[in-house]
Amino acid sequence: MSDALLDRIAAASDLTELDSVRVALLGKSGEITARLKSLGSMDPGARAAEAPKVHALREKVTGAIAERKASLEAAELESRLATETIDLSLPAPETVSGTVHPVSQVMDELAEIFADLGFSVAEGPEIETQWYNFTALNMPEDHPARAMQDTFYLEPRTPGEEPYVLRTHTSPVQIRAGESHGAPIYVIAPGRVYRSDSDATHTPMFHQVEGFVIDKGITLGHLKWTLETFLKAFFERDDVVLRMRPSYFPFTEPSAEVDVGWSIEKGRRVVGGQQGWMEVLGSGIVHPRVISNVGLDPDEWQGFAFGCGIDRLAMLKYGMDDLRAFFDGDIRWLKHYGFRALDVPTLSGGVGA
Ligand code: PHE
Repeated sequence: MSDALLDRIAAASDLTELDSVRVALLGKSGEITARLKSLGSMDPGARAAEAPKVHALREKVTGAIAERKASLEAAELESRLATETIDLSLPAPETVSGTVHPVSQVMDELAEIFADLGFSVAEGPEIETQWYNFTALNMPEDHPARAMQDTFYLEPRTPGEEPYVLRTHTSPVQIRAGESHGAPIYVIAPGRVYRSDSDATHTPMFHQVEGFVIDKGITLGHLKWTLETFLKAFFERDDVVLRMRPSYFPFTEPSAEVDVGWSIEKGRRVVGGQQGWMEVLGSGIVHPRVISNVGLDPDEWQGFAFGCGIDRLAMLKYGMDDLRAFFDGDIRWLKHYGFRALDVPTLSGGVGA
C-alpha cells in the first residue's frame, strides 16, 4: 500500500500534478484522511493496532510530497536559468534614439586628428582664477586686454576674496597643462568658455579648442604646418588654404590671426579654394613670459599656441547657419544634425563619420 502511494508521488511530473496527488491522499476527502477518520469507529483493540500504521503512513506520505516538491521546484528553476540566458555579444536592438551633438562629434574628431600628430587632450576648470585666466597669460590687472573679453565675474564667497571668473577662453589650460606636465608638451584642450555676449553669431557659452606646444627650436613654420595639416584633415579636402595675418594677443609674440579660404559650391559656401577668406582662429609663438609662468626657461624652450572656435568649425563643416540653435536642445534639430552614437570618428574611416 505504502509503496504504491510513494510511486504515485514520484510519478507526479510537475507541481500541479503533485498537488492533485496531495489532495487525493491528504485532502478533506483524501484516501489517508478517510483512513484516519475510520479509526474513530473501530473497537479499541483494532484501533490500537491500526492507528500507529495510519499515522506513520501519513508522516511518510507528507515527507515524500515535500521532497518531491523541492526537487520539482529545483528542476523548474534550472530550466528557467537555462532558457533565460542573455547573450551579451548580440548587437543592441535598433531602438537607440539619442544622437551625438555636433559639438561633441567635432571634439572627438579633433582629438582623433591631433592624436595622430602626437598631441594628447588636456582639461581645466570652467570656473577659473584670474591668475590662470589672465595674469599668467601676460595680462596683469591693469592690462587693457582684460577689457577685450566681456568677462563673467562670480560673487566672492568671502568678502575681500578675489572673484573667480568663468573662463573666457581655453588659454588658461596652457598654464595648467604646462605646470603639471612640464616640457616638451603637445596638447589640445577642448571645452566650454563664457563671455557676456549674445546675438545670432555669439552665445554666452561657446566652445573652443586650445592647441599648446612647448619644445626646443619651435618656429612659426611648425605652427603653420600643424594648422594646415589639422584643417585639411578636419575638412577632408586637400585644397584648404591658410592665410596668416599679423595680430595681437598678450600671450603670444608674434601673434597671427588665421583665415581659411572658401568658395561657393552648389550655392553653398564651403571651406576650400580661395574665392574669399574667413577668420577661423588666433595663434602665435608663446610669449617668453608665459613660458616662465609655467616654470620653464624661455631661453631653452619655445612654443606655439592657437585657439579656435569649435562651434564655428562645426557650422562650417556640417552646414548649420544659426549658432543659437546649437544650445536650444530642440529634439528635431538634434535628430537632423546629430550623429549616431556608434559612428566614432577614425582617421581611416573618415573623421566626418
Ligand atoms: N585665447 C584667444 C581667444 O580666445 C585665442 C588664442 C589662443 C590666441 C592661443 C593665440 C594663442 O581669442
